[in-house]
Amino acid sequence: MQQNFENIIASKLAEKRKNGMFRFLSQPKGLDFSNNDYLGLANHFEIAKAAADAYIKLGAGSKGSRLLGGNHKIFEETESWLAKWKGTEAALIFNNGYNANLGIISAFCDSKTHLFCDRLSHTSILDGYAMSSGKLHRFKHNDPADLEKALQKVKEDEFKLIAVEAIYSMDGDIAPLKEYAELAEKYGAMLYVDEAHSDGILGPGGKGLIAELDLEAKVHLSLTTFGKAYGTMGACIFGSKLLIDYIINNARSFIYSTAISPGTVAAIQKAVEVSARDSFRRESVLRVSADFRQRVREAGFNCLQSETQIVPIVLGTIDKALKCRDFLAENGFHAACIRPPTVPNGTARLRINISAAHKEEDVKRLAETLARWDK
Ligand SMILES: Cc1ncc(COP(=O)(O)O)c(C=O)c1O
Repeated sequence: MQQNFENIIASKLAEKRKNGMFRFLSQPKGLDFSNNDYLGLANHFEIAKAAADAYIKLGAGSKGSRLLGGNHKIFEETESWLAKWKGTEAALIFNNGYNANLGIISAFCDSKTHLFCDRLSHTSILDGYAMSSGKLHRFKHNDPADLEKALQKVKEDEFKLIAVEAIYSMDGDIAPLKEYAELAEKYGAMLYVDEAHSDGILGPGGKGLIAELDLEAKVHLSLTTFGKAYGTMGACIFGSKLLIDYIINNARSFIYSTAISPGTVAAIQKAVEVSARDSFRRESVLRVSADFRQRVREAGFNCLQSETQIVPIVLGTIDKALKCRDFLAENGFHAACIRPPTVPNGTARLRINISAAHKEEDVKRLAETLARWDK
């Protein structure tokens, strides 16, 4: 008998439900600890006004890909400003970080390229690889010695790309970037650093981990996303003019997609200005996160090696993680439950994201509530 396609799809979804893996959209109920608005800028008046003014002046749409009529002057002005701010020769705005990683990794990884990335790499890096014909080498999480072993196996004259994140999005720990930079130099590799969760948070003026460690001269390419600490949306790649020209010519997600609106570009620059000026936001989020981590660790929770505003509460099974999430919800808190395959099997967790928008007493209350949960 001919199978109805809807039955096939329904049975695939039923399988997800059975395994506790069914995703659905909902509005956060209670105090939200799941979003990425780390500096509390998403509702900032100056940023919203910069966007609104630009929308009224320049219109709501960008009219096309940057290569086909969508390259409004505001893009180039903002890119020059961002490159100067970061201290790189050039910068290129992307629609978001996912598309930037997709475009960049696939652009550089042809069949003669070796891509080295961390076992906990973000999906956008792996999806970029999936679009490519390169060879993948995955090294142990935050382990330069394991990376070196992999680098040693590749011939000297082959193109090597090391792609790492500054702060890991599900663990909240910080990459050993100095060691990676030394290895990149030793093995003639190109080093790409995704600062999606560290920009706005680490480094002078929130310029990220590369700036904090003075590695600007040793990192060849880096990514900032504006949908997290900066509270807006979009992303930017920083590097030499040579590399940016290569990306403009080869990154399919850049070439074949309509650019973001000029209003969003205006919001991006204002958000970076506000973040750089308001260092109290960074200081507050890091201080409150450190206090929260200490409290939950003392209560017996495993927060892995988190040192940042992202605090995982590893619970093991999906069932346990869902029960803990529901317990927090009953007590007025909304936390994200992160399950495999997003994280390795057996490490289902709640991911608590602390923001400068949270009141310190609310973060303490969350830690006290977790401590009451019957593990
Ligand atoms: C490390 C990392 N890179 C890239 C992205 C994608 O960025 P965007 O949300 O701007 O698409 C994310 C998103 O969560 C991320 O965690």
